[in-house]
Amino acid sequence: MEVLRVNGLTKTYGSLIAVNNLTFSLKRGEVYGILGPNGSGKTTTLAMLSEAIHPSSGEFLWFGKDSGLNQRSKLGIMLEKPNFYDYLSAKDNLKIIADIRGVDYSEIDIVLKRIGLFERCNSRFKTFSLGMKQRLAIGAAVLGDPQVLILDEPTNGLDPEGIAEVRELIRKMAGEEKTILLASHLLDEVQKVCTQMIVLKKGNIIYDGSVNANAKNEIIIELMAEDIAALTEVLKQSVDFANFERKKEMIFVKIAPNITTSILNAYMQQHDILLSHLAYKKQSLEEDIFEILNEIR
Ligand SMILES: Nc1ncnc2c1ncn2[C@@H]1O[C@H](COP(=O)(O)OP(=O)(O)O)[C@@H](O)[C@H]1O
Ligand SMILES: [Mg+2]
Repeated sequence: MEVLRVNGLTKTYGSLIAVNNLTFSLKRGEVYGILGPNGSGKTTTLAMLSEAIHPSSGEFLWFGKDSGLNQRSKLGIMLEKPNFYDYLSAKDNLKIIADIRGVDYSEIDIVLKRIGLFERCNSRFKTFSLGMKQRLAIGAAVLGDPQVLILDEPTNGLDPEGIAEVRELIRKMAGEEKTILLASHLLDEVQKVCTQMIVLKKGNIIYDGSVNANAKNEIIIELMAEDIAALTEVLKQSVDFANFERKKEMIFVKIAPNITTSILNAYMQQHDILLSHLAYKKQSLEEDIFEILNEIR
């Protein structure tokens, strides 16, 4: 079932196109990661979908309907670290949020248990660790049992323990048929908690699909030889190995999946090429994304 449909969503600030013509949809029960380096448009996208800011153009439909209060109440949103009151307890902070949203107080204990803060619910917010604060922020987002969770960089600023806690919590909620849309600049995080990802580069979608899929399924063999000119000549004249690229002293040959490195090696021997390096390399989606993320840092 489709939970969200986004069509041509765009946000400009003067001449800057922060988010450019995004079109995608979210299905119920999946965990989506919006992945991209700083400044790629993740927060802007989530802010528009949360109706915190207006799009410059484009549209989106939550649950097949136009925006409005009725739709908004189905979303649990954590855009930035929310402003909790330092001197109030976790419970009293959640009571304030429950009042604003019209959520029954009886839900508060359920949420506190879910985020693992029930035992500490009477402690003041300011005594919490960063991980606990962030879990409370997620708790505030899930108050009222929304069908969709929007989380912007939920592990930002946390120590490894806090990160593990928050990721575990997200995985748990993913198992409860919630649709989760989280933004992160960490590929590792998206791989650990998401099933689908949308990769942004300077406001544009450059990948939208499964986290595990192999975008390219291409096999690449790395070659080096003393006489690189002779090597490239031999490759050019071959039928199976003519698709190659040279980067400095390294040759990357793209081959069909049915060709093995030993076939390639034998071919080189027949043509008197002495290889100094031969390695099999499968270009994975991960490497593609890494390339993209590194390229623009
Ligand atoms: N209120 C604003 N005014 C001007 N530029 C903005 C504003 N908000 C965001 N931007 C710009 O939009 C781009 C995307 O920002 P953002 O969505 O925060 O990226 P991310 O969350 O991926 O780091 C950046 O270039 C940022 O400087
Ligand atoms: Mg951001």
